Amino acid sequence: MNVMSNDPYTTADGRRIGGVLMEMKNITLRFGGVVAIKDISFDIREGEIRAIIGPNGAGKSSMLNVMSGFYTPTEGEVWFEGCPRPQMRPYQVARQGIARTFQNIALFQGMSTLDNIMTGRITRMNSNLLNQALWWGKAEAEETVHREAVEKIIDFLEIQHIRKTPVGRLPYGLQKRVELGRALAAEPRILLLDEPMAGMNVEEKEDMCRFILDVNDEFGTTIALIEHDMGVVMDLSDRVVVMDYGKKIGDGTPDEVRSNPEVIDAYLGVSHD
Ligand SMILES: Nc1ncnc2c1ncn2[C@@H]1O[C@H](COP(=O)(O)OP(=O)(O)O)[C@@H](O)[C@H]1O
Ligand SMILES: [Mg+2]
Repeated sequence: MNVMSNDPYTTADGRRIGGVLMEMKNITLRFGGVVAIKDISFDIREGEIRAIIGPNGAGKSSMLNVMSGFYTPTEGEVWFEGCPRPQMRPYQVARQGIARTFQNIALFQGMSTLDNIMTGRITRMNSNLLNQALWWGKAEAEETVHREAVEKIIDFLEIQHIRKTPVGRLPYGLQKRVELGRALAAEPRILLLDEPMAGMNVEEKEDMCRFILDVNDEFGTTIALIEHDMGVVMDLSDRVVVMDYGKKIGDGTPDEVRSNPEVIDAYLGVSHD
């Protein structure tokens, strides 16, 4: 089995990895004089858990923002399902099936867990406000479908006990879980997670790891995640992209990048092994 070829394969733990779903082609991103991303290419395969690692300021969040359509690359193209993606607004990208969480939690602090997760359904809602005013019946039927989808996610993430609690009152780890729930509510094909475990204690990290694996396993969701904890990356991901100063310095299985001398110099050697 060669995971760097494009042939579908089955992982050691029995997950099916398909062909390329998303491809970043020669992406460069500049902010004025700052080059956040320099000519980076990599792909993400259907069903895969793909990690992006690198020191602070390496350009990881910027890359996720390009993938989510929040930033338009200065140069290069984002391909999705074998086609170049035209310049799109983030909500259009979301409708293509790409959902994300943020490095800093971006929830409605005064709203309940349930309502926050419901906002994740917006990209899937058909009835607009006018429709809702004119066609109560249709909007009501749609609302029922969305409620049911949200309740399923709440069960899946084991957060029934906090469904009515304003998110601002929840501990950090649970807020991160609610944010994951909101992203899942969009039923994405690709889930982008920016440091989903940052700032968590060991137990919260273990929970989040388990949920990420379960999402991938049960829903077949492709996942791209940024993570600092190398242990977590090694346990979770099928393949890893390593960034440093906006450049890609490694790409491969966790074992491959772990033994790449350039990666060790730039990153792993600093605080690991
Ligand atoms: N909106 C922005 N405007 C200007 N510079 C930015 C912006 N976002 C990121 N940068 C710069 O781009 C570089 C990469 O940042 P970032 O993508 O946040 O790195 P990472 O997530 O790997 O820590 C940094 O030098 C940062 O200061
Ligand atoms: Mg970042």
